[in-house]
Amino acid sequence: MSAAQANPALGVVPSHAIRLAGVAKTFGDVPVFSGIDLTINTGEAVAIIGSNGTGKSTLLRALNGLNPIDAGSVEVLGASVHALKGDALRRLRARIGFVFQKHFLVSRLCALSNVIHGMQARRSGPQVWAQWCAPAAAREEALACLQRVGLADKAMQRVDSLSGGQSQRVAIARMLMQRPEIILADEPAASLDPRAGDEVMELLFHLSREAGRTLVFVSHDMEHAVRYSDRIIGLSGGGIALDISATEARPQELTGFFAKPAAETADRPRAVYSGAAAA
Ligand SMILES: Nc1ncnc2c1ncn2[C@@H]1O[C@H](COP(=O)(O)OP(=O)(O)OP(=O)(O)O)[C@@H](O)[C@H]1O
Ligand SMILES: [Mg+2]
Repeated sequence: MSAAQANPALGVVPSHAIRLAGVAKTFGDVPVFSGIDLTINTGEAVAIIGSNGTGKSTLLRALNGLNPIDAGSVEVLGASVHALKGDALRRLRARIGFVFQKHFLVSRLCALSNVIHGMQARRSGPQVWAQWCAPAAAREEALACLQRVGLADKAMQRVDSLSGGQSQRVAIARMLMQRPEIILADEPAASLDPRAGDEVMELLFHLSREAGRTLVFVSHDMEHAVRYSDRIIGLSGGGIALDISATEARPQELTGFFAKPAAETADRPRAVYSGAAAA
């Protein structure tokens, strides 16, 4: 099915999942970035790289309205994010899963209850507070989400007894419970050991691929950026200084991107990208 075809539940789905035009952000007197133009196609996996403080998290958070912007427009799933308020913004956010470096689970609850919390994006009330008050269908769906991340056997275990990698996978299962169309992930593997980090990135990549979901993740791990994306965007000098296909990228060359002074990388001609997922 073409990405542009209509889904009766959602209306016409545009071929691009995300489109930014002229986006600028300043914190107080400190400009973070400006003139950001970026189109991400539906189903595309995009890695965002860049030195500390270049605005990667700020950009990601602008995509679901967590960070307001000062200029430009951010369109996600056909909606103008920063024009939405209240229920309309909540409905859009429910379609966008977010995975953070820190998993933000409720430590005294079991894995299954934490996954059921993912339903709060879609409905409210006591039925989504914990597994024991959730309807059977919700428990079954949450269990299927845990199964999808390989943790069905840990469903009733308190999350404070799980390893860091297992906890992050529970957080991913909770995000799946949202039934998201887009997955945003801000350094999801940064707190994990190399093996658990690889597993989490592999999982996110497969979860996006299997359902045609768009994936945008921030990473400082250049192997991850190359292995788990179609396209790599580099932020530097207050803008996009790199935009290349992952198949053209080598981790060592990307490491060189960090060695250059910000002004130099910003002046670099931006590589024209035409990825496999491009419409
Ligand atoms: N809430 C805030 N208030 C003020 N300044 C902020 C705020 N959030 C971010 N900043 C500033 O904006 C700039 C970009 O921050 P951001 O967290 O987006 O960078 P980053 O690229 O994600 O960095 P890192 O790689 O360290 O995670 C930094 O200078 C940061 O200090
Ligand atoms: Mg960050």
